[in-house]
Amino acid sequence: MSVRPVCVITGASSGLGRGLARRLAREGYAVALLARRREPMEELAAEVAAAGGRAAVYVCDVTVRHEVLKAVEGARQDLGPVDLLVANAGISINTRVENFDAEAVERVIRTNFLGAVYAVEAVLPEMLGRRTGHLVAVSSLAGFGGLPLSAAYSASKAALTNFFESLRLDLRGTGVWVTVISPGFVKTPMTSHNRHPMPFLLDLDDAVERMVRGIRARKKSLVFPRRLGAVVWAARLLPRTWYDALASRIDRRKSPEAGGPGG
Ligand SMILES: NC(=O)c1ccc[n+]([C@@H]2O[C@H](COP(=O)([O-])OP(=O)(O)OC[C@H]3O[C@@H](n4cnc5c(N)ncnc54)[C@H](OP(=O)(O)O)[C@@H]3O)[C@@H](O)[C@H]2O)c1
Repeated sequence: MSVRPVCVITGASSGLGRGLARRLAREGYAVALLARRREPMEELAAEVAAAGGRAAVYVCDVTVRHEVLKAVEGARQDLGPVDLLVANAGISINTRVENFDAEAVERVIRTNFLGAVYAVEAVLPEMLGRRTGHLVAVSSLAGFGGLPLSAAYSASKAALTNFFESLRLDLRGTGVWVTVISPGFVKTPMTSHNRHPMPFLLDLDDAVERMVRGIRARKKSLVFPRRLGAVVWAARLLPRTWYDALASRIDRRKSPEAGGPGG
């Protein structure tokens, strides 16, 4: 058993999850890496071990509830009780009004929203029992309002944000903390094929650093970059005609089908 605090990260094979796992391992966490692709996680685990840290790999599809429960149980057996959950796994599929495809919407909701719900189910009882723990959701500024071609993604992130916000209220006084992180655009494989404008695009390391600081400070909500966050927030208050004109400037049609809005 490890004496290090234990962190479970979903979507640890790539992008923000991978960066966060590497960074949290450096902070002293034993990290449980969860995603579908084993190889990149094995590479990361070896890298963490070589640097004197601890990481273990659990291949799992977050859309399958029993796989998530099994993976987290494996992490608990191997590393110890879970102190920190980072529910980060996510996909982005453009939603098109022509050839509208509810199955694609289901895939996005299952991954981005239900995947996080299953991870919470896997860690929460023990956290409540121990009266300590931290639940972190990697949501998105896209959850603050509808964006072109983004119906599924925006809806999944709005659900995720509100779900964790409700949990935060219900968990007051229990010793379990909740943080919702809403990044704007970050350079990761998810956004690498985007051709539409990505204002205030952040480097991965910069984003990871901000996220780790927010987690360490147990912030209730972390929105970055601030300037884009302010624009998005203000846009919520605009008359809808003005909002439509502004939001339509993000022309996702220039981006490939399964690219990603990200932010
Ligand atoms: N990049 C941005 O601009 C941005 C902005 C705001 C929010 N976000 C959010 O940040 C999170 C990470 O995104 P990213 O940009 O780092 O994207 P990414 O590089 O594409 O990483 C996505 C991760 O999610 C995992 N994943 C996807 N479907 C999964 C499934 N069914 N089961 C298990 N794991 C699954 C992937 O692993 P496998 O494919 O190996 O399963 C991968 O590790 C997402 O929730 C995204 O919505 C990103």
